[in-house]
Amino acid sequence: MNTLDTSALIAPHGGQLIDLVVPPEEREATLRRAATLPRLVLSARQLADLECLATGVYSPLEGFMCEGDYRRVLREMRLADGTLWPIPVIFDTDASTLAEIGDAAEIALSWNGRVVATLEIAESYRADKALEALAVYGVDDAEHPGVTAVRALGEFYLAGRVRLIDPELHGDFAAYRYTPAQSREAFARRGWRRIAAFQTRNPIHRAHEYLQKVALEGVDGLFVHPLVGQTKSDDIPADLRIRTYEVVLERYYPQDRILLGVFPAAMRYAGPREAIKHAIARQNYGCSHFIVGRDHAGVGSYYGTYDAQRIFETLDPQDLRITPLPFENAAYCTECAQMATRKTCPHPEETWLQLSGSRVRDMLHRGIRPPEEFTRPEVAELLIQGTTIRP
Ligand code: ADX
Repeated sequence: MNTLDTSALIAPHGGQLIDLVVPPEEREATLRRAATLPRLVLSARQLADLECLATGVYSPLEGFMCEGDYRRVLREMRLADGTLWPIPVIFDTDASTLAEIGDAAEIALSWNGRVVATLEIAESYRADKALEALAVYGVDDAEHPGVTAVRALGEFYLAGRVRLIDPELHGDFAAYRYTPAQSREAFARRGWRRIAAFQTRNPIHRAHEYLQKVALEGVDGLFVHPLVGQTKSDDIPADLRIRTYEVVLERYYPQDRILLGVFPAAMRYAGPREAIKHAIARQNYGCSHFIVGRDHAGVGSYYGTYDAQRIFETLDPQDLRITPLPFENAAYCTECAQMATRKTCPHPEETWLQLSGSRVRDMLHRGIRPPEEFTRPEVAELLIQGTTIRP
């Protein structure tokens, strides 16, 4: 065995890294048994959660949540055993599928026509969607993309332990698909102990770069970790976003101090609660620090600019080990002639170069490069090509 010693890294949430992937030598027998079980086809969102559960991204969870966990998570942001957990991880289905499954104790889950996992059914229960929307998203408003997604789910949730038979679920981003066990090994190999994680669902712009580089001043390494699970339709597609990261990281970052990985989870747009979920997941990947900037995981004007930072201040220190790294709104100040925040710059708002997301999208659609203090020209070029050739 030449596995690396990862014991100097932060412990996973709840203490133990969960591994629910069927060992290669048991795969064939498990597949044979799974072929005899009732079969459900996974949605993209279920697949993302399954993958996160099985590879320990959601440690200490070992399966889709039972009603006791679900209700306490909604009410108190805790699992039934008291562990901090902000957003339900559930497997939705409908009444007719429940009737088809009958009293089966286990089902097979398929993706792209192949059985990829099993679910041992511990219980089924009725979703409480209005409560879920209010608790997780703070609103029960059909305009909120997270709430829309919850409303579109089936009315019943299946709970139980999962086993992932086939970990090769995707054809894309293969070089960047570190599981938590693999990122921990990669950090240990580089001798890193203090690692800052950066979550994003957007192409890289100069404010991101500023946050990442300020963080890099105080840690051993940076885990750049764009989310590649489902996002809302007007977010920039993951392949294009990753290309912007590739080009900027290669040209402007010290290669021995960064690692680019992809985060398979689907975006929830739940602001503060999702910031905690993002932090827990990155702790499981082995990161000691987590960057939380302005309106983290936010959408529209549903959350206050710094709500996702303040929620960390309400937690007991023993609830969460990873340390949030809060950042104020960052922008280029034309007087300072550098990136700045309110904490570092004395000049008025008018000296700051700030562009809204819709303004930038509009410029890109018309083939206009945003100023280079906002978006690096290489990134603007990629986005203009990608934005104008896509419908
Ligand atoms: S998110 O939904 O993944 O949070 P985004 O990709 O926009 O969205 O942001 C990634 C991270 O950078 C988040 O922590 C966010 O708060 C932070 N961030 C983005 N833009 C800025 C900015 N101009 N100033 C400060 N923080 C920012």
